[in-house]
Amino acid sequence: MKTRITQLLGIEYPIFQAAMSWASSNAPLVIAVSEAGGLGVLAAGPMRPHDFSSVLENIKTHTKKPYGVNIPLNNPRAPELLEIAYNARIPVMVASQGGPKEQLPRFRAIGTKWLHVVASVEHAKKAEAAGVDALVVDGAEAGGHPPASQVTALVLVRRVVKEVKLPVVASGGAADGAGIAALLALGAEAVQLGTRFIATPEASVHEKYKHAVLAADVQDTTLVGPRNLPIRLLRNSFTEKFHASSAMDQEALYKSASLKAAALEGDVANGKVEAGQSAGLVTDIVPAGELVKRLAAELDEARRRLAAL
Ligand SMILES: Cc1cc2nc3c(=O)[nH]c(=O)nc-3n(C[C@H](O)[C@H](O)[C@H](O)COP(=O)(O)O)c2cc1C
Repeated sequence: MKTRITQLLGIEYPIFQAAMSWASSNAPLVIAVSEAGGLGVLAAGPMRPHDFSSVLENIKTHTKKPYGVNIPLNNPRAPELLEIAYNARIPVMVASQGGPKEQLPRFRAIGTKWLHVVASVEHAKKAEAAGVDALVVDGAEAGGHPPASQVTALVLVRRVVKEVKLPVVASGGAADGAGIAALLALGAEAVQLGTRFIATPEASVHEKYKHAVLAADVQDTTLVGPRNLPIRLLRNSFTEKFHASSAMDQEALYKSASLKAAALEGDVANGKVEAGQSAGLVTDIVPAGELVKRLAAELDEARRRLAAL
């Protein structure tokens, strides 16, 4: 299947494994996805510079296929992480949270394709004007940071596709080939899946985190945090306490809980268990490479089913 995204990046399938702090802050998941023909994306956000360097080396040793790196540009460690990514001549940057203008020219000069994560029409236009190669558009279903506007991928992706000329990667709510086909039908030229890839042996989160995703149904997530920057989490003791607290207590509570506690220590009751609504569509743990192949086969099946209607 050829789209502007598969051609731009040189990947076989229009399928990305989304950047996920901790879950994809390690080499095995990224290697498995890229080797299988999708785009594996390393989440550099929570990583120490030294670990980031050695994980990049590991990825480069184990796959010659394209892979991506996500750096949140507003991260206090971003300058160091960007320097390491530049020296490693990463093939694909998936930048989030911050403007691309400052870094874009030098990464372009070494051949890096720069994709920018946006969650509104306004930011999509800004990123296009700045000269990025493609956009990743997050809809409200997404785990992690969905748009504050809470506009769903079904509506936002369609709106952005009509508004920009750049190719778009749709993000949020897809967990199987039918979901990928739906987002491609809107005009997206690839689809990224986060939550689905948590349920793989390669995702570097605690087993309890993976099982919490498997156990969740579609209504089991909720938004917490500042109104202009909410995060989508699985409901647990922490989210219940958060919603039962006053605005002032919410702020302290929000700071006291962490994704790290859930992801690394397995505290899925009191930690922040980031996951999308698509958790309700995930029912099994599958090796990541096998998952990419399965998603591609399901995508073909969905296209055939639609064509036969
Ligand atoms: C556990 C988790 C951690 C995430 N961490 C990041 C991150 O570090 N950087 C980023 O740009 N997006 C992050 N996201 C958002 C994903 O890249 C992606 O937009 C989202 O997972 C897509 O929605 P889905 O989960 O329904 O597939 C995270 C999502 C999850 C579920």
